[in-house]
Amino acid sequence: MKVICGPASKELAEAVSAQTGFPKVPVVAKVFPDGEFYVRLEGDVKGEEVAIVQTTCPPMQNGRLFQLAFMADSAKRAGATKVTAVAPYLAYARQDKMFLSGEGISVETIARMLKAAGIDEFLTINIHAEHSLKQFPVPAKTVSAIPLIAEYFVKKGYEGAYALAPDKGAMYIAQQAQKVLNGDAGHLNKTRDRYTGQTVQTAEGLKVKDQSVIILDDIVSTGGTIVGAAKILREQGAAHVFCGCVHGLLIGDAEKRILDAGVEEIVGTDSVPGNISKISLAPLISQALKGAV
Ligand code: R5P
Repeated sequence: MKVICGPASKELAEAVSAQTGFPKVPVVAKVFPDGEFYVRLEGDVKGEEVAIVQTTCPPMQNGRLFQLAFMADSAKRAGATKVTAVAPYLAYARQDKMFLSGEGISVETIARMLKAAGIDEFLTINIHAEHSLKQFPVPAKTVSAIPLIAEYFVKKGYEGAYALAPDKGAMYIAQQAQKVLNGDAGHLNKTRDRYTGQTVQTAEGLKVKDQSVIILDDIVSTGGTIVGAAKILREQGAAHVFCGCVHGLLIGDAEKRILDAGVEEIVGTDSVPGNISKISLAPLISQALKGAV
């Protein structure tokens, strides 16, 4: 296998290449004056299986999706025998069903586009809703980075911390963290108005007084969910509040708002490269490409 270093995840792809021993294929990328994208593989992939490592997080998630599709096409035209797309963050995964009449299912459209471009298999990290993968037209897998995030907090001395999911749907995430943290786990309740996007969060029977609490979520976007959860935790007397997320999009001033809400540290992965991406996904992706997870 060879690892194609997508321009959105160059460092991560190089780390995967180093950890797997699979040779890397650099990519030349540019944007034309009219905004269109260009990619060229700088290596021989004839007769090879390839993994294209390319996250599709903002900013520019649409362009990054196009780059991924173009790299798949280039690889196939250059004679690659199998193309695995490794998109640590998959854009559009939150539109995983038709919430309102008249909507489509964006994540399925993206999957069909990627297959049409030449992708044979798909790997991602903590896709928003695992059921989406069942509708992909190619074999598709998600692996969880939550244990790595929990280990980060254990190494910082927070073994026994409370793992909190900001909504019931994320409880499985809190439970994955709980297995590593060896503390309690629970969830808040969150309802969303599908027209305005406004959410309401409530707590029932939380026992977090004087505890260190880690709020865990797959995605932090505007930060509203974490800010709301932190407010409830403060009211309930939590001693320390942290945030662990796989995909820290941190749109606008989300980071500041979360820290201002009393969260002591935000920890994310390099699915979204940035100053909170303290955990590398390279070991997890390397294991997955070698079939070890
Ligand atoms: C939604 O269900 C996700 O798991 C996250 O909770 C959500 O995307 C976070 O969004 P925001 O940071 O804008 O509240």
